[in-house]
Amino acid sequence: METISLPEPKTKGKISVEESLFKRRSHRKFISENLKIDEISQLLWAAYGRNKYCKVVPSAGAIHPYEIYVNLSNGNSDGLSDGLYIYESSMHAISKVADENKSELLYYACLQQDCVRNAKAIIILAVNYEKIKARYGNRGIMYAHFEAGHIAQNVCLQAEALNLGSVCIGAFNEKEIDNTLNLQNLKVIYMICVGKIYSHFDIF
Ligand SMILES: Cc1cc2nc3c(=O)[nH]c(=O)nc-3n(C[C@H](O)[C@H](O)[C@H](O)COP(=O)(O)O)c2cc1C
Repeated sequence: METISLPEPKTKGKISVEESLFKRRSHRKFISENLKIDEISQLLWAAYGRNKYCKVVPSAGAIHPYEIYVNLSNGNSDGLSDGLYIYESSMHAISKVADENKSELLYYACLQQDCVRNAKAIIILAVNYEKIKARYGNRGIMYAHFEAGHIAQNVCLQAEALNLGSVCIGAFNEKEIDNTLNLQNLKVIYMICVGKIYSHFDIF
C-alpha cells in the first residue's frame, strides 16, 4: 500500500471561524482546476486529524469509530495519483486502497448527482458500528451519526476558509456504495464533495 505523507496542516488561516460560518453554503458546481496537496491535507486534517489534545472532532467515549477515505479525481496533480485513499490520521498521511478513481461509480451510487462526478475530492465517512456499539449498545449508532455531523461540518468550514466549495451528500444507494467501495466491516454514512468554485455568489 503506497503511503504518502501530507504537508503539515496549518493552524492559522486567512479567515476567521466566524467568516467561514457566515460564508458557508452548499456548492454543487466545481471548476476543472485541481486541488493542491496542501488543500487536500487541510481538508482531511479538519475531518479527522489530530490536534493539540486528541482529534479535531469530539467522539463519544473518545472511540472515534470512523475511517475517512478520499477519492481523488484530481488529475494526478502534486504527486498524488487519482484513486481511493484512506486517511491515516496518526501519521497525517494517506494510503492508497484502490488505483481506480471511483468517481463515476460514486456518481451512479449517489443517484447521478453531477456534483459527485465533478468534485476533485470526495471525502467519505465510513463507520465501524461495532466499535461504538461495544461500549454504548444501540445508542452508539446515534452517537456515531452525531459524530458524522461534526466531521462534515469541520470539512465544510475548512473548505470555506480555503475558498473551496463543498456539499454534503446523504442521498445515495447504500448497496451500490458498499459494492463500489468494498469497505468490509465499515458502513458509509456520509460524503462531502469538494472542488474549486467560480465565485461565492453563483447560486447552484
Ligand atoms: C444529512 C444531509 C444530507 C444531504 N444530502 C445532500 C445530497 O445528497 N445532495 C445535495 O446536493 N445536497 C445534500 N445536502 C445539502 C443540503 O441540500 C443543503 O445543506 C441545504 O439545501 C441547505 O443549503 P445550504 O447548505 O447552501 O445552506 C445534505 C445535507 C444534509 C445535512
